[in-house]
Amino acid sequence: MRVHLPRLTAVDPTPGPFRHPAAAPHEPLRTFHPRGAGLGPVRQDALRRLFPELGFSVHDEDAPFPRTADGMLDPVAMFGRSAPLVLEIGPGMGEATVAMAAADPTRDVLAVEAHLPGVANLLKLLDEAGIGNVRVGHGDALDLVRRAIAPGALAEVRAFFPDPWPKVRHHKRRLVQPAHVALLRSRLVVGGVLHTATDWPDYAEQMAQVLSSDPGLEPAPGAGSGRPVTAFERKARAEGRTARDLVYRRVR
Ligand SMILES: C[S@@+](CC[C@H](N)C(=O)[O-])C[C@H]1O[C@@H](n2cnc3c(N)ncnc32)[C@H](O)[C@@H]1O
Repeated sequence: MRVHLPRLTAVDPTPGPFRHPAAAPHEPLRTFHPRGAGLGPVRQDALRRLFPELGFSVHDEDAPFPRTADGMLDPVAMFGRSAPLVLEIGPGMGEATVAMAAADPTRDVLAVEAHLPGVANLLKLLDEAGIGNVRVGHGDALDLVRRAIAPGALAEVRAFFPDPWPKVRHHKRRLVQPAHVALLRSRLVVGGVLHTATDWPDYAEQMAQVLSSDPGLEPAPGAGSGRPVTAFERKARAEGRTARDLVYRRVR
């Protein structure tokens, strides 16, 4: 039987699914940093063992995800049940993803991470914790949403500590900007929640402005699922930055 894996650029010289945007001008600006996909033996092993069952690739048709007849991602086929669906954009190493999935087994989670070591680490954590309600996508979550998430399909979208892109000339790469928010809102069910958080004050201000300006969203503080403090946030706190959560609900 052929086992489908994402192409491992660290161990396989074939080009990976990600090219630097500068090398592919037709692609949209990415909201994540291009990084190497170096994997140690433990993460390589996790990827080989677990990706075929729990992973999928956004871009690479060698590791496709189940689709409905109209080409949308099919969560019932993917999770084997019908449950409220959560999209997490950029879970990083997956610490919060695992804690939140364990705390709420009634919902299914699509965690989509561009960075392959994060994908591998999350798979490893899911395996260790015996968690069955998370599937891990490798690639650009926005591409997945644009192409394969049906309108109204999501109960919640989470994006915790999206890359801050602090230089002004890079702000156009920020995840929370009007076009991305409109896209994500369109995939939420009415009543669904968009929960983001950042430890960068100017990004928090931008987030608040963008989210408040979206005609289909209203603030819903307290409506987000409990977000645990991760290593990433502990580091931010140690450096004197405080996280701010922004939680909005789709109202129309
Ligand atoms: C600053 S890290 C935060 C990670 C994690 N959410 C946490 O709180 O520890 C941002 C992560 O989002 C990922 N990311 C950014 N934009 C993305 C996108 N469009 N699709 C998938 N992953 C993305 C990056 O690769 C990175 O791992």
